[in-house]
Amino acid sequence: MLIDAHCHLTGDEYEETGGVARAIARAKEAGVGIIVCSGFDLDSSIKAKSLAEAHEGVYFCAGFHPSELNEYQEGDLEEIAKLCQSDKCVAVGEIGLDYHFDDNPPKPLQKELFEKQLRLACEAGLPVVLHSRDAAADTLEILEQNRELLKFGGLMHCYSYSPEMSDAFCALGLHFSFGGPCTFKNAKKVWESVQRIPAHRILSETDCPYLTPVPFRGTFPNEPSMVSFVVEKLASLKGVSTEEMQKRIYDNAKALFFKLK
Ligand code: NI
Repeated sequence: MLIDAHCHLTGDEYEETGGVARAIARAKEAGVGIIVCSGFDLDSSIKAKSLAEAHEGVYFCAGFHPSELNEYQEGDLEEIAKLCQSDKCVAVGEIGLDYHFDDNPPKPLQKELFEKQLRLACEAGLPVVLHSRDAAADTLEILEQNRELLKFGGLMHCYSYSPEMSDAFCALGLHFSFGGPCTFKNAKKVWESVQRIPAHRILSETDCPYLTPVPFRGTFPNEPSMVSFVVEKLASLKGVSTEEMQKRIYDNAKALFFKLK
């Protein structure tokens, strides 16, 4: 069974290719048995919950992405906490820090909401799905300072920092997921991270609708059925068969997202 541990199916991108239900059906035909649809604000988290409840094998996480905090309003985290009670909510996410664009929400606000959502996850008894872009040092500092809030685990999704830096995140007990970028030419840094990180900490994802893997790189939208190309690449980087990598990722996903059925 293949697993897409992180994707976005709540936008209208899939209308061009027959709608989201068709995308999910194609994923099932391709052997993808578990899809975790990630929220990035309150509205998308509510939509992700509905989608998960309507489709077998689809789960979701609820939370505020650091780039979406301009949408954040007082009381929204209470609503996120309610979503966490769903049988199909496997994590709080995606949460973290994103300093990539100059007009991203101010750093103090990002840090405040990151910590609040780490606390929310711990109180809900759930792992976290982490988004971190151009903010490695601050992300690590906040996680290390709040280590006790990570007792239900976490996933560094689309890991793209240095291979050496993965050691520090690994020491916090975190898992790592890789998507389309690991199939790209010149992704040497990502390949080295995959090789360095212990096999029991690695998951596969698409982060669709963007980042379509090779050999379909450049086509839009990406979708969960494409995760097979990611798993093939991870297997070759780890020097194991695709079947063995699939089984390993399944076990890892069950260990991290313990609400998966
Ligand atoms: Ni994402």
